[in-house]
Amino acid sequence: MVYMTDSAPTTLTLTQPDDWHLHLRDGEALAAVADHTAQQFARAIVMPNLNPPVTNARMAADYRKAIMAVLPDDSAFEPLMTLYLTDNTRAADIEQAHESGMVKAVKFYPAGATTNSDAGVTDLKKTYPALHAMAACGMPLLVHGEVTDPDVDVFDREAVFIETVLKPLMDDIPELRIVLEHITTGHAVKLINQSGERLAATITAHHLLMNRNSLFKGGIRPHHYCLPVLKRETHRLALLDAIRSGHPRYFLGTDSAPHARENKESACGCAGMYTAHAAIELYATAFEQAGVLDKLEAFASLNGPDFYRLPRNTEQITLRRQDWQVPDNYPMGISTLIPLYAGEHLHWKLGTD
Ligand code: NCD
Ligand code: ZN
Repeated sequence: MVYMTDSAPTTLTLTQPDDWHLHLRDGEALAAVADHTAQQFARAIVMPNLNPPVTNARMAADYRKAIMAVLPDDSAFEPLMTLYLTDNTRAADIEQAHESGMVKAVKFYPAGATTNSDAGVTDLKKTYPALHAMAACGMPLLVHGEVTDPDVDVFDREAVFIETVLKPLMDDIPELRIVLEHITTGHAVKLINQSGERLAATITAHHLLMNRNSLFKGGIRPHHYCLPVLKRETHRLALLDAIRSGHPRYFLGTDSAPHARENKESACGCAGMYTAHAAIELYATAFEQAGVLDKLEAFASLNGPDFYRLPRNTEQITLRRQDWQVPDNYPMGISTLIPLYAGEHLHWKLGTD
């Protein structure tokens, strides 16, 4: 990574990053959002929570084709596909997926945890044959780490998941490699710091930039609602400590999750923030606020491929210190998409040359 000056860099050049947690959707939404990611990232781990979910290698291959079809012909972007774990996922499904070479991970949503997760796992024990097959071939399990018990306070669901689901799973299948996705709490940071090489975590830009006050600033803010929900400031500070530490098993995963405007601004609004329009700029902003711009490259571009046992990218990108205004919205089929920080100013901009 190269700065122009040490104190207030005006440009930032880094190895091209990858996004290790992304929702691209399908149909009109896919066509509206895919290029935002492809403009920034070399690769992205594409979440399988379509309706119906992507549960086998054949569906993943079809989905991959659909993604490539909406990108320009000369796009070098590489979607890294995932399967959606269900109670019925068999060891043979994992083996086939692994042999396809195209499926890089499997996603575990507790049933009912979030958008399109109704087909998720009701009893993790039922999936143990599939999880053992993953352990055998080194394929990571990507975990949405929240319990769904309605009696558990929504702000405590990650901490309770770690104690009641994740730690027992790690004890039961010690060889299983796991990514705890979009971590939001000091509990998660503590676990990653204490665990060995088999456990990693992604962190979103929005969980680095905002705490739960942002949900209620001057009124209820549906575009700041995502899952896991924003937490109190002490937890955001724990995430900042995590990125400041330079620990190799934290890496970039935007969890950019587009929803049509009317589905967000509703009496029962969907969870998910759209951040792909300015993903690396948002991370640069967060890392600069944390005083560790020098740690951005490892987090965004090196730690992820190392954990996934994939080659690091060889291209570079350059960010410039430049004021620009985020559009108020983007077209998405017959609807619109409201990006994070719509109409507001950001101070880093990805160069186009
Ligand atoms: C995601 C979505 O909309 O698909 N929403 C979100 O708030 N992050 C699902 C998820 O990752 O939980
Ligand atoms: Zn997600």
